[in-house]
Amino acid sequence: MAVIRLWLWFGRIKVDSSMINLELLYRTNGIDRNRTEGRLVVVSNRVPVGAGAASPAAGGLAVALEAALKKTGGLWFGWSGKTSEQEAAAVQYKGENAVTFAVFDLPRRDLEDYYCGFANQALWPICHYRLDLANLSDSYDAAYFRVNEQFAEKLHRLITPDDRIWVHDYHLIPLARFLRQMGCTNRIGFFLHIPWPPPDVAKALPSYQRLLRSFGAYDLVGFQTEADADNFRDCLVAASAGRAIGVNRCEIDGRVTQVDAFPIGIDTDAFVRTAQAAEKNVTVKRMLASLDGRPLMIGVDRLDYSKGLKQRLEAFGMFLDSTPEAARARVTFLQITPKSRSEVPEYAQLQRELAEEVGRINGKYGDVDWTPLRYVNKTFGHLALAGLYRASCIGLVTPLRDGMNLVAKEYVAAQAPDNPGVLVLSQFAGAAEELKSALIINPYDIEGTGAAIARAFTMPLDERKDRFQAMMAALRANSVHDWVARFLQSLSYPSGQPDTGKDFADDLSWAERKASDMKWIEGIVSREPKPRQKKPMPHRRSL
Ligand code: F6P
Repeated sequence: MAVIRLWLWFGRIKVDSSMINLELLYRTNGIDRNRTEGRLVVVSNRVPVGAGAASPAAGGLAVALEAALKKTGGLWFGWSGKTSEQEAAAVQYKGENAVTFAVFDLPRRDLEDYYCGFANQALWPICHYRLDLANLSDSYDAAYFRVNEQFAEKLHRLITPDDRIWVHDYHLIPLARFLRQMGCTNRIGFFLHIPWPPPDVAKALPSYQRLLRSFGAYDLVGFQTEADADNFRDCLVAASAGRAIGVNRCEIDGRVTQVDAFPIGIDTDAFVRTAQAAEKNVTVKRMLASLDGRPLMIGVDRLDYSKGLKQRLEAFGMFLDSTPEAARARVTFLQITPKSRSEVPEYAQLQRELAEEVGRINGKYGDVDWTPLRYVNKTFGHLALAGLYRASCIGLVTPLRDGMNLVAKEYVAAQAPDNPGVLVLSQFAGAAEELKSALIINPYDIEGTGAAIARAFTMPLDERKDRFQAMMAALRANSVHDWVARFLQSLSYPSGQPDTGKDFADDLSWAERKASDMKWIEGIVSREPKPRQKKPMPHRRSL
């Protein structure tokens, strides 16, 4: 029997799984419904260590994951957000309450090719249906799989056999595939925060087959909407990588994975309280004082081409053109747009274009004492944002494509029930599946969006209240806590099965499961293409 090494690590007993007897390792993996749940290990590309999810820099993913870990405690593993000049940076630990953060810096080259390259110039645009903006390169592909393997190597040293591993977002699709290859038989779930497109779009993804088959290493794969989950199942079939078997389960290369929709929510009650308390916030007070009783509209988005910002600004111009009352009332549109991913050329380009459009609109419609559009590239804390949402009679959430969009949900939760504002929401945001009582628009239809803004501006109080109440009911039915509970419940006990105390994993003994997983991984590895040999580029002759 191999040596088992135990030592105290951050106050808990840590087992060095690389040294542990394999039998012991796999015996714990079968699902025993009576056993206490193992530790939750959350993995995301970026970990807001030290910043706290309530910090201005944190996005929806960070807020949701903090909610997940607050209840259960556990480990949050990923990139520190810093770059290093060294090739391999060590993992650093930080403890906050019951959560341990385990983070490492990324070498500059990996940041360029894996994060800016494959993740944000191939996966991001294609998953947002923007094939025209995709930049494909062999070195991006190689970096994506290489960095995922490095994440897996580092993580594998930290996990114990009964940990539940929850991997997040498009940066880390192949992570479980590498963990399995290293012998990991923990239950591993994956949640995609962004959309998943239909086969005709998705097949433009580089390493498409390899990516699709990588999903098979997870026990559970979650999408934001039913439409995304359906697209994914269609991709498996169209690419001959798998098939649907019964309710919400897919077979991918012979291994069974649960595939389901888990729409992400917000901490509804907490956000309502934050918005009520926000009146006293200094930023909110300054904003209100500057308005002098005039109406406010708001948009809050990262600076990203998927958010439909150019179209939104144009629609605002149309609204001013077609609604003389708006011009007389000197309505102000506050667009808060923190810069993001500026290293990626398409984002830098958009930054320039938006600044130009803002200038055009203010030049055309503004006056000596009225700036119709206030465009701010700053981040604000949740308290200030909640107060600004509450002070705004219209919330504009008009992405061209969005996984969910939590700004839409937060805007609704922040409203005063006796005088709520109106949400204008894109049909292409995942949130539109739940917030059906918003004014739903097609963001490509500039005139239509302008008309919807005008309708929101003059909407009677009773209609506003009815719409608000219906949307609040939807938010209360699916908070971020429900999302966490549903996902983790499914990860522990796959759904779509009669509760016989058995499921597809229980049907196998630990040894059978281990053997079948190893066979599966050998199969997919043997089919993976070898890296393309780079031919030297012929020298160009100068003309
Ligand atoms: O929407 C996808 C997402 O990854 C969010 O989860 C996150 O808040 C946001 O993009 C920020 O991305 P980045 O880490 O590239 O700044």
